[in-house]
Amino acid sequence: KSIGMGYASGKIILMGEHSVVYGEPAIAFPFSGTGIQATIRKHKLESWIESSFFHGPLSEAPTTMRNVTILLWYLVKHFKIPEPFYLKVESSIPAERGMGSSAAVAVAITRAVFDWMEEPTTQKNVLYFVNQAEAVAHGNPSGIDATTISGTEPILYQKEIGFQPFQLNMDAYLVVADTGIKGQTRKAVRDIAKLMELRPRETAKQIKSLGRLTQQAQQAILKNQPHILGDCMNQAQGLLRLLGTSNRHLDHLIETALNHEALGAKLTGGGRGGCMIALAENETSGRQLQQILLAAGARNTWIEGLGVYAHV
Ligand code: MEV
Repeated sequence: KSIGMGYASGKIILMGEHSVVYGEPAIAFPFSGTGIQATIRKHKLESWIESSFFHGPLSEAPTTMRNVTILLWYLVKHFKIPEPFYLKVESSIPAERGMGSSAAVAVAITRAVFDWMEEPTTQKNVLYFVNQAEAVAHGNPSGIDATTISGTEPILYQKEIGFQPFQLNMDAYLVVADTGIKGQTRKAVRDIAKLMELRPRETAKQIKSLGRLTQQAQQAILKNQPHILGDCMNQAQGLLRLLGTSNRHLDHLIETALNHEALGAKLTGGGRGGCMIALAENETSGRQLQQILLAAGARNTWIEGLGVYAHV
């Protein structure tokens, strides 16, 4: 085959970021609003990367792309990919905003290589490669990003236990807004680990409470109770703020959403910047929220109908 192509969407964590690192459950779904396309083919002189972030010889890729270079190393070794190659990565996922762009890059590239080598992909064998890249990108990842993005459905995820598909079917809309500020997942994860050492009892209690809120949210979704889900989101945001993962940009958009009839609002993903999500009762109020959040300084917004969840 002369060319290999692979696609991956972004992801949204509805409930359970950070506490998922400590074994608590989380709910996430592949987010079709954004995605990454990777294309790979033979090249003449040297292996080359073409992306908005960096374009040039693979050998000169910056250290911030170590997740990609390590992934390629594993893929080259496993598939004996013909070198040199030309890899193009086109992304509409804002980088470092809690939407899983690092996992999505890895999934898209892995799928492109499988396609090029004419190997059938399964989620398990894609994940094997993606996890190598994520370990480098995030330090101590729970695996939720890679698992969500390499799949096609919303999931309930628990570290070391695995995931189960989860029907995210309710009469409500989710608005996603990007603060435009780069998040700091790695640092936020590390700072919570520090809190765990400094104030073990209090921090463990907060993490447990986040886990309990995810379970309550799960029940609310199963019973189609958007108001209860919104309440769970608000309580989770309160705890995430106490754990130091919010910041004033996120707080501002969250407060704005709550002042304009959102049923609930919280950060999503690693925090300290990145994206927030707000639950809206119907499409009209969701679209209004989008406008209001843009006027309040959001860089970009998206809307996803939970009742008509489209499989990616
Ligand atoms: C990042 O998308 C989610 C975090 O919970 C980190 C992780 O689970 O690896 C913050």
